[in-house]
Amino acid sequence: KGSLAVSELAAKLHRESAEIIKKLFLQGVMATKNQELDKDAIELICAEYDVEVEEEVDVDVTDLDNYKIEDKEDDLQERPAVVTIMGHVDHGKTTLLDSIRDTKVTEGEAGGITQHIGAYQIEENGKKITFLDTPGHAAFTSMRSRGAQVTDIAILVVAADDGVMPQTVEAINHAKAAEVPIIIAVNKIDLEGANPDRVMQELTEHGLIPEDWGGDTIFVQLSAKKREGIDDLLEMILLVTEVEELKANPNRPAEGTVIEAQLDKGRGPVATLLVQNGTMHVGDSIVVGHSYGRVRAMVNDLGRRVKTAAPSTPVEITGLNSVPNAGDQFMVFKDEKQARQVGEAKQQRQVEENRSSGARVSLDDLFNQI
Ligand code: GTP
Ligand code: MG
Repeated sequence: KGSLAVSELAAKLHRESAEIIKKLFLQGVMATKNQELDKDAIELICAEYDVEVEEEVDVDVTDLDNYKIEDKEDDLQERPAVVTIMGHVDHGKTTLLDSIRDTKVTEGEAGGITQHIGAYQIEENGKKITFLDTPGHAAFTSMRSRGAQVTDIAILVVAADDGVMPQTVEAINHAKAAEVPIIIAVNKIDLEGANPDRVMQELTEHGLIPEDWGGDTIFVQLSAKKREGIDDLLEMILLVTEVEELKANPNRPAEGTVIEAQLDKGRGPVATLLVQNGTMHVGDSIVVGHSYGRVRAMVNDLGRRVKTAAPSTPVEITGLNSVPNAGDQFMVFKDEKQARQVGEAKQQRQVEENRSSGARVSLDDLFNQI
């Protein structure tokens, strides 16, 4: 607690209070038996007895940050970028996500059944890119409100026939606040009324100036619907990825963020996790938000069972004892017992918090805020 009464200090040092009071007096401090001594005074007295002061710090056992493992620079390896797509209503976010997925995922994965797990990974020129399939705003607002940062690159979709709109500006502000690089996708260039130059002009007012005009913002013109310009966009994503030098250590226990989660009738709690560091394995002991358990099974974005998940990989897992929230942090513990202890403490904390607030926020509430 940082302070002690003279009598308490005396007891700890196995001395009489009077002796301590005398020592203090000789140091110029007038004190009584019940007087609280601050840290400096305690250290002064302890020094006289050659005793070292050890501070007791209250460790919050429910704070996963307290269990984080620091990586050595040498252990870090390149990892794929995690990309979210933002933009105004109807400007083509979903169409773009779908066309990237359809043109890329099915190419080499004949027969692969794509499954909706809130995120997917593609390969372009031998490099992977992860796309979050959650609305970009949600990824920023609800996740960031929980202290999670999942996005490495933001794609801002602006319809060439509509230009910069209120949610376009909102998206710019989110990305800027998160200090995430922005790539502009000027969409719907196939339309009659498309005016890409106007979009570029309007965006300069928000500090996004094309390279051609002396700025450093990357613009790609495309038609998500006609699937034109998709490769250009992917190329630019890889370019920015290289500049960002995104790294992680695949040889350590996994940690990351919940993308989405729900209760499945047959399988119980199901959570889509984005592994942000380390590698996750089936059988790992894991704490996810206020829930915990062992990873019973992992399914990738193609609906296939996998045994491991490397950094920047989205996977759906089962084996948790309750449903976590989007944006929750997760961490794998080497020690199963510790995972259970931390998990139980976090669950207890959650119960107390719910009781005191009397309210529950559902995933839907979070994602409907946008
Ligand atoms: P919200 O999720 O409602 O915010 O919209 P969104 O940004 O996901 O837009 P969505 O992909 O649903 O597209 C909106 C409409 O624009 C749909 O009718 C699309 O077919 C159409 N659209 C999307 N991209 C293009 C494009 O490149 N060209 C044309 N002509 N239409 C497009
Ligand atoms: Mg949409």
